[in-house]
Amino acid sequence: METSTDTRPYSAGLEGVIAGETAIAKVDGQNGRLMYRGYPIVELVRHGTYAQVAELLWTGEWREDAALHCGTLTGPVLAALRSLPDGTNAMDALRSAVSAWGASERLTYPPTLEQARALTAMAPSALAAFARLQQGLDPVEPDAELGLAAGFLYQLTGEAPDAPAARALDAYFIVAAEHGFNASTFTARVITSTQSDLASAVCGAIGALKGPLHGGAPTEVVSQLHKIGSPERAEQWIREALDRGERLMGFGHRVYRAYDPRAAALREVAEGMGNTAEWLRLAVAVEDIALRMLAERHPDRVLKTNVEYYTAAVLQGVGLPPSLFPATFAMARHAGWTAHAIEQASANRIIRPDVRYIGEAERSLATLATPA
Ligand code: ACO
Repeated sequence: METSTDTRPYSAGLEGVIAGETAIAKVDGQNGRLMYRGYPIVELVRHGTYAQVAELLWTGEWREDAALHCGTLTGPVLAALRSLPDGTNAMDALRSAVSAWGASERLTYPPTLEQARALTAMAPSALAAFARLQQGLDPVEPDAELGLAAGFLYQLTGEAPDAPAARALDAYFIVAAEHGFNASTFTARVITSTQSDLASAVCGAIGALKGPLHGGAPTEVVSQLHKIGSPERAEQWIREALDRGERLMGFGHRVYRAYDPRAAALREVAEGMGNTAEWLRLAVAVEDIALRMLAERHPDRVLKTNVEYYTAAVLQGVGLPPSLFPATFAMARHAGWTAHAIEQASANRIIRPDVRYIGEAERSLATLATPA
C-alpha cells in the first residue's frame, strides 16, 4: 500500500469540518440550541405554523399570513405511485413521486421559491396517496382549506382530522423542517452545486435520509420500546444491547453535546397529547435509564437523547403507523432541503472535495505473468 504523503487535515465522516456557509439555521451543538433564521426552535413551535416556518426558511421573512395547502397530484405522479409493488418502502415511494414530479414539471436550474413551495405541497399528497393505494383504497383529493399537516392527515384517512392531532403534527413538521449540514441536506446541496434540478436534489436527500443512522431511527425507537416492554426490564435490556455492541436508537448525535432542543420541544408536544400517556410513561422511564448507562459506558462522549426519540411518541400519538415515520420526517424536511438548494444556487461553487489515496502504490501490468 502507498504511504500517503498528503499532510492536509482529514476528518473521518467530515466531523468538525466546515463545508459551507448558511444563513438558514444555526445548530449550536455545545449548548443544545437550534435557531431558524435567528428564532429559537421552541418559540417557533409554540407560536408558529409550518407554513410560516417554511416561508421563513425560504425567504428569511416572517409572514403572519403564510399558508401552504397540499397540492393536487398530477397524472405522472399518481401513475408512478400506482406502479409500485405491494410492500414498497414509503421512502422509496416518496422518492419515486418526487422523481416523477420533477420529470413532469420539466424543472430547470436554478431552483426557485415557486418550485420549493410546489414540491413541499406535493409531498404530503403523494405520501398519503401511496399509503392508501397500498391498502387498496383510492387516493383522496386534497382539501384546499387545510394546512399541510391537517391536509396530510385528511388525505390519509378521508376524515376531517382531529384539531389537536393536526396541531401536534404541525409542531413536529416545524421541528423536523431544518437542521444545518446534516447528511441529507448536504446531499441536496452537492446535487444542486452541479446545477442539477430541485427534484434531483430532493430525491438524493430522501435517499440519504432513508438510512437508519439518519432518518430511520424513530421506527426503530418504537420497536426498541416494544422489545423493552416495561420500565422494570429496561436496565437489563439496555445492558445486554450495549454489551452486544448495539446502539440505542434515539440517542447520540454528531453535533449535539447537550440535550437535543428538538427532543425537548417534542417532549413538550407529546406531553400535551392525552393519548400518548402509557407509551410516554415508558419512554420517559427508559430514557432516564438509557442516559445513565450511556454516560457510564462513554464518560468521554456526551450521548444524549436526540429528536428521533420523541418523534416516535408524537407520530404514534397522531395515529401514524411506524412504517410512515421516516417518510413523514422527509416530508417535513422538504422546507429545509429546498431552502438550502436555493441558498446553494444563490452563491454556487461545485462541491468537489479531495480524497486521500491509501491504495496500491504505482505498479505495472507488465509484471503480471502473460496468459497462456
Ligand atoms: N448507542 C450506544 N452507543 C452509541 C450511540 C448510541 N445511540 N451513539 C454513539 N455511541 C457510541 C459509539 O459506539 C462510539 O463508541 P466507541 O467510541 O466506543 O466506538 C461513540 O459513542 C461515538 O459514536 P460515533 O459513531 O463516533 O458518533 P457519530 O457522531 O458518528 O454518530 C449517530 C452519531 C450516527 C447519530 C450515533 O449516535 C447513532 O448511531 N445513534 C443511534 C441512531 C440514531 O438515533 N439516529 C438518529 C440521529 S438524529 C437524526 O439523524 C435526525
